[in-house]
Amino acid sequence: MKGIILAGGSGTRLYPITEGISKQLMPIYDKPMIFYPLATLMLAGIKDILVITTPEDQAQFKKLLKDGSEFGINLTYKEQPSPDGLAQAFIIGEEFIGDEACAMILGDNIFYGNGFNSVLENAKENAINGKATIFGNQVRDPERFGIMELDENNNVLSVEEKPENPKSNYAITGLYFYPKGVSEFAKTIKPSQRGELEITTLNDIYRMQGNLKAEILEEGFTWFDTGTFDSELDAANMIRTIENNKDKIICCPEQIAYYRGWIDKEKLQERATLLRKNNYGKYLQKLIDETK
Ligand code: G1P
Repeated sequence: MKGIILAGGSGTRLYPITEGISKQLMPIYDKPMIFYPLATLMLAGIKDILVITTPEDQAQFKKLLKDGSEFGINLTYKEQPSPDGLAQAFIIGEEFIGDEACAMILGDNIFYGNGFNSVLENAKENAINGKATIFGNQVRDPERFGIMELDENNNVLSVEEKPENPKSNYAITGLYFYPKGVSEFAKTIKPSQRGELEITTLNDIYRMQGNLKAEILEEGFTWFDTGTFDSELDAANMIRTIENNKDKIICCPEQIAYYRGWIDKEKLQERATLLRKNNYGKYLQKLIDETK
């Protein structure tokens, strides 16, 4: 199973901040935004990950994440020259994906909650068995998102991109699992009115084939699309509260890598030493000391 983090886009909603830096490199409390989606793919057990960025920003992403070996994963980088839509990721990533199933997560989406492991496991299994999975989360402002309409058995009746009159308040979050062959479908998509290859159109292809499943993120689950000033601050405050209450670092790629045996103690120690001046590094040191 392969994974893609889509971290392109011009971030115009966050100007003037993102005039000088890519949105997905900005902090959400104590770590760069992209660590959160990276941790989600790693939690799903995905080690081969393609990071798609704008041409201008790629060098900075490479400086931060390198080849992935610090996290026990393999990172590949590709450019999206202009923001032509989320589904384009599967065309850009065609060679990388090869003949495997593939998950994609948007570089500004944060997921945190109980039982997420098993939700991800289900989605993975669906993908291996030829079904796509999307994840729904109830929101107050459904006009801002892709929206799914469900029947009483959680079958997907329709998917619509930012509808004026939403048929439900279940937003389609920025995490998608697809079976092998997704690039072929992506190539058949025509640009929408706003000129983008819409992920919602791709999802609709799977829906019409009867191959689209929906997982609903339960109450108490935390999901953020951190594309605005307010959602960034809200997310940062939330992460800070959770981490201080639980005395831990959440969505921590190093921890996931260590627990899964993708990096050894020596490798984790290098990170703990580098980050030693703050609670992030102290947390990594605690993980090492606990397993001595
Ligand atoms: C994108 C998708 C939308 C989805 C959202 C989730 O919108 O087009 O379907 O609900 O991500 O974060 P964007 O945030 O790029 O406007």
